[in-house]
Amino acid sequence: MKDHDSRPIGVFDSGIGGLTVLKELALQFPQESFLYLGDTARLPYGSKSGHTIRKYSEQNIEFLKRQDVKAIVIACNSASTQVPESEFAGLPVYNVIGPGSQRALEVSSGLRIGILGTRATINSQAYTKRIHSMNPKAQVFDQACPLFVPLAEEGWDSDPVTNLIVFRYLSTLMQNQIDTLILGCTHYPILKNSIARVTGSSIELVDSGEAIADWLEEDFIAGRLQRRKDPAPRMVTVSTTDSSTHFTELAHRILKPVKADEFRVVDLV
Ligand code: DGL
Repeated sequence: MKDHDSRPIGVFDSGIGGLTVLKELALQFPQESFLYLGDTARLPYGSKSGHTIRKYSEQNIEFLKRQDVKAIVIACNSASTQVPESEFAGLPVYNVIGPGSQRALEVSSGLRIGILGTRATINSQAYTKRIHSMNPKAQVFDQACPLFVPLAEEGWDSDPVTNLIVFRYLSTLMQNQIDTLILGCTHYPILKNSIARVTGSSIELVDSGEAIADWLEEDFIAGRLQRRKDPAPRMVTVSTTDSSTHFTELAHRILKPVKADEFRVVDLV
């Protein structure tokens, strides 16, 4: 068996949010190439049914497989709730639910864990079930925040409008005295300043992008994934299913200091 693999790691999300995960992965694995797919033509996923999200996710995985990736990271919580498999179409698949749940349990001081997510993620109860399977004593409080995705896509972090909406969504969780808060949508780290302004410093914010990088590292060490050992510089390619200069501008801001080598618009079929 080969001890190296120069193929890129595929990462997908419905839009710009998954770039927060791509950034963490690209920083943690500076030798690895990445191929990102943002399904911007069909965004949002979080307001759609589980059946539709599953269908879109399978199409995204098939597309990335045709691009010859060596593994797939589902950097979308809504999609992650519908694709629990750790292997799909012969490829290792990573979703954010397990890493986010594990990290929350690790950092929680009193096992009072809040979850923010899209309607699809919250309705699926995927985080609640996963957390309870890892620690039945944990108390979980959740809140769907459908207005957060458009605010993140607009790049409105720390905007007074965003601060007000964050305050409104978080007030019940705060009354429940959570000590940890899972940002259960990859768009939400973009609004981290506004969220932290409401939660203050005593509540731990869990970002699934950071958590999932640890799971990949474990698999590199265990040999389930092979590292890229190529003297040529790695490539970070960002593809979307719709073209938008706004996406490209915001992508540069989110990815910084990671540099995307190429932006392209693709057809999934
Ligand atoms: N970024 C996606 C997630 O993590 C949701 C955005 C959307 O609704 O498409 O859940």
